[in-house]
Amino acid sequence: MCGDPKLLEGQVAIVTGASRGIGAATAKLLAAQGAKVAVNYRESRERAEAVLAEIRYHGGEGIVAQADVTVRAQVEALVRETQERLGPVDILVNNAAIPFPTVPFAEYRWEDFERKVAGEMAACFHPCQVVLPGMVARGRGCIVNVSSGLSRTPSPGYCSHAAAKSALDAFSKSLAAELGPAGIRVNVVAPGLTDTDATAFVPEPVREMIAQHTPLRRIGRPEDAAGAVLLCCVDWSRFVTGAYLPVSGGAHMP
Ligand SMILES: NC(=O)c1ccc[n+]([C@@H]2O[C@H](COP(=O)([O-])OP(=O)(O)OC[C@H]3O[C@@H](n4cnc5c(N)ncnc54)[C@H](OP(=O)(O)O)[C@@H]3O)[C@@H](O)[C@H]2O)c1
Repeated sequence: MCGDPKLLEGQVAIVTGASRGIGAATAKLLAAQGAKVAVNYRESRERAEAVLAEIRYHGGEGIVAQADVTVRAQVEALVRETQERLGPVDILVNNAAIPFPTVPFAEYRWEDFERKVAGEMAACFHPCQVVLPGMVARGRGCIVNVSSGLSRTPSPGYCSHAAAKSALDAFSKSLAAELGPAGIRVNVVAPGLTDTDATAFVPEPVREMIAQHTPLRRIGRPEDAAGAVLLCCVDWSRFVTGAYLPVSGGAHMP
């Protein structure tokens, strides 16, 4: 309602991989709720700038910030720039999509498997560790890691993705346990099949079949996952940490 206080007023958020898909929707939603948002991208500068332009059009604030979040030095620069231009980081959303081949296990090359699992962990490990001192110093922080329904409900061809996201889930629970005393919450949002560039290769009949097997009878939209991320960030969730929140219309009920 017009005039209502915004849910994240005065907070600063970094959303990794925010030039497209779920990250872009998340950056826009957090900004619409008053957060100042660092829209991280790796290559798609124009698309990141379009996200920021939309944020500003609706009265929000933010910056675009290039960084490959699997590389420590680039993450340090991302966090430094965010702190200097927006302020101390309250919210970190680790969303960047680490690509992987979808092939049967028998054909999987170890190099591809290793690149996915190590990349997924690096893209979470480095941002979490680099924002940590600031969050500890202020006695609060909110980290949301974007996993996948496939981490608990596997599907053929996705062994590296399932393994990487399962590792991310376990890592998130470990951090939730370890960082809770410092006032830092760590939760996981786990989308099911969501309509983004990353899933453009999925044929229409497969999408339709998944929709028909989903209680809410459709596949996900980026805004669905963004809503769940917001849910983890707002004060109403202040006693929620170590949670795994499926966003799949009921397709995954782990
Ligand atoms: N779509 C789904 O069905 C689905 C389902 C479950 C989970 N997920 C998870 O949701 C997250 C977002 O996926 P999506 O479908 O929205 O992907 P997407 O549309 O393909 O977008 C990927 C985003 O990640 C960024 N990115 C990739 N590598 C990066 C790196 N090393 N450093 C920084 N940014 C990087 C890209 O930046 P550039 O544009 O600059 O390349 C882009 O902004 C991922 O973690 C994915 O595993 C997606």
